[in-house]
Amino acid sequence: MKVGIIGATGWLGGALGAALLNKRIIDQGDLYVLNRRGAGSDYFGHQPHWAKDVSDLAEASDVIVVSVRPEDWPALNLNARGKLVISFMAAVPCDVLGRSGGRIVRAMPNAAAEVGTSYTPWFATMDVNAQDRIWVGTLLDALGQQEPLSVEAHLDVLTAVSGAGPAYPAMLAATMKAFLIGHGLASGVAERAALNVVREGGRLVGPDPQALVDRFVAYNGTTAAALREMNDQGVITGLKSGMEAGVAKTRGGG
Ligand SMILES: NC(=O)c1ccc[n+]([C@@H]2O[C@H](COP(=O)([O-])OP(=O)(O)OC[C@H]3O[C@@H](n4cnc5c(N)ncnc54)[C@H](OP(=O)(O)O)[C@@H]3O)[C@@H](O)[C@H]2O)c1
Repeated sequence: MKVGIIGATGWLGGALGAALLNKRIIDQGDLYVLNRRGAGSDYFGHQPHWAKDVSDLAEASDVIVVSVRPEDWPALNLNARGKLVISFMAAVPCDVLGRSGGRIVRAMPNAAAEVGTSYTPWFATMDVNAQDRIWVGTLLDALGQQEPLSVEAHLDVLTAVSGAGPAYPAMLAATMKAFLIGHGLASGVAERAALNVVREGGRLVGPDPQALVDRFVAYNGTTAAALREMNDQGVITGLKSGMEAGVAKTRGGG
């Protein structure tokens, strides 16, 4: 399998390229990389092929991974006839990607790909064959956990949830840290306390998160008082409408 990554030095494209090579999933001689700023002397400690341009990369690759920002997609003018195309782009649907002539898969990793712990749902169009699906699984396994979906629209919804990766816990941690500093705590204490909540607290959240919330509410202590006030202030409503805004943006309406 010869793999080409367009956007190979970006956040996700770089995570994929580094994971494929560091985990020896493919040989550096089978990887073609392309970015906008030009070839580097070193690629995560490896020496893959630097493609001259999009058509050079497409010609050399069996699988083309598109990991540019959605607004940069049209200018690529990708001709992928006969190739498998895996797009990481939010907001570019399969019918648009299909104009490249390739067999299309849309995948939605998140920033945890950087440390090999992404949750990556993906959707394949009808002309993606059984061998292609094996390749998709192999490539996305390099980033963490992957899961095929049967409905493309579900990928739009997941883009605004798992696609956001660490963004929501980061916002929660930032709010808690600022709150503690606002109450006069030293920055280091505030940081350690807030990080403990999102990192270690998060590990206790099981398959039924609502059951854990209910347990704290039933306990009826200080946490219950905080949760009730947050609910009354519209925190849950705000979270839901925030995720709806993400979905709308993915569908071109935001
Ligand atoms: N980051 C996330 O957490 C995340 C999560 C889910 C989905 N996504 C999706 O994944 C895609 C990539 O996101 P990202 O965060 O990795 O973006 P990024 O860090 O901005 O990287 C974009 C890459 O595209 C390259 N590029 C831009 N125009 C190009 C062109 N004409 N030819 C070749 N390369 C070109 C850039 O090259 P240079 O390096 O030279 O600038 C860069 O390597 C996006 O479409 C985004 O919607 C991202």
